Amino acid sequence: MGADGNQQASSTFAVTESLRLWEEAQRLIPGGSQTNSKRPQNYALGKYPIYASHAEGCRIWDVDGNEYVDYVNGLGPISLGYRFPAVDDAIRAQLDRGIISGLLWPLEVEAARALVETIPCAEMVRFLKGGGEATAAAARIARAYTGRHLLLNAGYRGWPDTWSAGRDPAVPPDLAKYVVSFPSHDLDKLASLLDQHRGQVAAVCMDAPHSDVLPSGHLAAIRDLAHAHGALFMMDEIVNGFRLAPGGAHEHYGVLPDLACFAKGMANGMPLAAVVGRREVMQAAADALISVTYGGEALSLAACVATVRVYREQNVTAHLWAMGRRLMEGLDAAAREAGVPFRCAGQAPISAMRFDLPSEQVAPAWELWLAECAKRGVLIRRGGLNFVTYSHTSADIDQTIDACAQAFRVLRDAGYTAAGGQPGQERQLAGAVSGRGQQIGL
Ligand SMILES: Cc1ncc(COP(=O)(O)O)c(C=O)c1O
Repeated sequence: MGADGNQQASSTFAVTESLRLWEEAQRLIPGGSQTNSKRPQNYALGKYPIYASHAEGCRIWDVDGNEYVDYVNGLGPISLGYRFPAVDDAIRAQLDRGIISGLLWPLEVEAARALVETIPCAEMVRFLKGGGEATAAAARIARAYTGRHLLLNAGYRGWPDTWSAGRDPAVPPDLAKYVVSFPSHDLDKLASLLDQHRGQVAAVCMDAPHSDVLPSGHLAAIRDLAHAHGALFMMDEIVNGFRLAPGGAHEHYGVLPDLACFAKGMANGMPLAAVVGRREVMQAAADALISVTYGGEALSLAACVATVRVYREQNVTAHLWAMGRRLMEGLDAAAREAGVPFRCAGQAPISAMRFDLPSEQVAPAWELWLAECAKRGVLIRRGGLNFVTYSHTSADIDQTIDACAQAFRVLRDAGYTAAGGQPGQERQLAGAVSGRGQQIGL
């Protein structure tokens, strides 16, 4: 901290070891990383850390020894904070018994029970490992239950072929006829697609967009339209789950989907995903070809049981909302004071951010701001989403706001002060990065 209470930029800040590893990674790993949106080109290459050394609570240290308050948090899975004792103790206790076996672990039942008791639409549960795997499984369940093949979809559902025809030339283009996109805010368009494909739609699938607050009744109207056409309503809660509320957007907005997918946040970082839903619909999974060797892997299930218990016993989501609001208000005020056209949008536990600058200035402004924040000990992701955790305290948020305010002043001094946003930019907030192989969504 500086004498004025603000975070000072470290004069020795460097990411030398990160860059050395990144150079090697590009020779060994196609694309350099396993997650497209973690590629350093999406942040501020050369001026932002790439490799982590260790993490604790809401803080992370890079391999060059720099410490940061973290708002990226694995792109969402860290919901309680790094190394949260109740979760790590549960993982350790299970590690002493074993990781995976040919018998089923009681934890499969315990974790399913925990989700059924916690998530409003969950009557039955199937566990998987990744979010995309869960959405692909949900699509199969919907198709098996309805005997129909067409999906109407709004948003990013992951990389499986089920969802990526037309988005990746390697996916057989014929598959595109089984998934028709609709804009999640456009009820008329959805109604006309359902009419046009009468009797063919298995499910209407969507997530609640993170950079918007949905109008009241919107999700219920989508569900009712789906049901009126004999289709299921499937919600992707992979980002919103265990953030807006444990049950995600459907709990927050009070609408029950037939199927819902969860992943990030449900096991505080351990690789676990789930499809949950109405008993009658979920029963279709018993005979469908949905089977994964690692679905019953016990360390992740133990982490899930412990995580859900913390959510149930402590008011985790109230904390996420409070810290998220404090962050949004603080960043907005700091930008205003510096005269930089920037603002936070969307839901407080996962706020998005935008610069309302002339379009050619937006990318360089992000790069400079992220680099200046990193130099002052704060890790932020381009566009957001800002993943606050149960471990972020008011003091951490205030330290962040001080650091970000200084970074805004650097932007002001560099001339990023002229308003000039583009209509429609809002919908690109959630980190969309263009180019083949780059992530859409998270
Ligand atoms: C809304 C949404 N659905 C699905 C996925 C895919 O999840 P995963 O990357 O775990 O496969 C993501 C990933 O960020 C997502 O944001």
